[in-house]
Amino acid sequence: MITDDRRFVEAINRQRLVAVARDLVDDADPEVAAFARAALDACGRIADRVAAERAAVVERLRANEIAAEPVDDVDPPLHHSIELRVPDVDAAERAASALAEDGYEPSDRWTGGAHRSFRRTADVLTVTRTTDCTVVVRLRWRDRPPPSLLARVTRPSAADYRAIALPEALSPVYRLVRPVRLLADRLGLRPRFEGGLGPFLGTPADLIEPLLDVADVGPDDVFVDLGCGDGRLVVAAALSRGCRAIGVESDPALAATARRSVDAADLGARAEIVHGDARAFDLTAVTAVFLFLPIGVAGGLVDVLLRRLPRHARLVVHEQHGLPAPSPAAESLAVVSRESVTVAHRWIVGP
Ligand SMILES: C[S@@+](CC[C@H](N)C(=O)[O-])C[C@H]1O[C@@H](n2cnc3c(N)ncnc32)[C@H](O)[C@@H]1O
Repeated sequence: MITDDRRFVEAINRQRLVAVARDLVDDADPEVAAFARAALDACGRIADRVAAERAAVVERLRANEIAAEPVDDVDPPLHHSIELRVPDVDAAERAASALAEDGYEPSDRWTGGAHRSFRRTADVLTVTRTTDCTVVVRLRWRDRPPPSLLARVTRPSAADYRAIALPEALSPVYRLVRPVRLLADRLGLRPRFEGGLGPFLGTPADLIEPLLDVADVGPDDVFVDLGCGDGRLVVAAALSRGCRAIGVESDPALAATARRSVDAADLGARAEIVHGDARAFDLTAVTAVFLFLPIGVAGGLVDVLLRRLPRHARLVVHEQHGLPAPSPAAESLAVVSRESVTVAHRWIVGP
């Protein structure tokens, strides 16, 4: 179900959908009440799935003699994400290896100085497993006080580790990489989004068709998923809408997976996977663009894309977050399916 009711959109953005839907379930407006019921059903299924995944993960860690305590969410989660407390960074790394047996992979694999710096400065290691949706497990080993300004500008991030590979002996230099990158950003000395469009998280399978509806994808469209991951949107768009569908993916392994999936669907020339940088992709013949990215990155990209897209093209970004300011005004829609929830932001390129 899809609604532009601000109360549901805001509720998802603030991770308060269950409380808001409970208040609206008996609303006099039957459409509002129906959406509230669907939202509660979806949230219930997400909570059940998260509980089952969490139990399996804790059991796997226990079998490997790794202590792990679930960190309770204040509100029921709206996505498939689990946070566990482990004793220290060694336990977190052992846990990541143990969970590999169940198909979980670390979001990032650092080596050399980046790995050493990560072990010294980080507090959480994230592993993910993607099937019909992506389950995210955060292994946290210490709480941090709210970061001071100094900590915020010097604490290395994944983008800093990606920006430059330093040997182990130079790992403390990462504390300088961040301020230098921030300054270069400020001065406009490096291209924005240099850090990439974010890690792979699959759009939940049951959200794909509703999101294609939001983008109003039909047989005459040229649909592009920028950062297509395993190609799930590309295959779905070509199969269910009969349109030409293209996926652009910078990660070679994911691009290969997406190609295999396109080949398996036997879509011929209708679907194509391009291995490359989405920011360089020529959009002149494209009529519908899809993005599922960290909202900070997506928000910054929207301006650029809207300038490069032809008239009447639709751009849809989905995330459980509001758009960062300043973003061009969008129509924001709450989307709820059987076991998933998101907010879709839509722009239509004007004359
Ligand atoms: C959140 S995933 C979304 C995957 C897919 N669109 C979906 O919704 O299931 C973002 C994807 O963007 C890819 N990516 C990140 N930076 C990129 C870039 N500069 N060019 C192309 N792909 C990129 C990542 O490898 C990842 O697969």
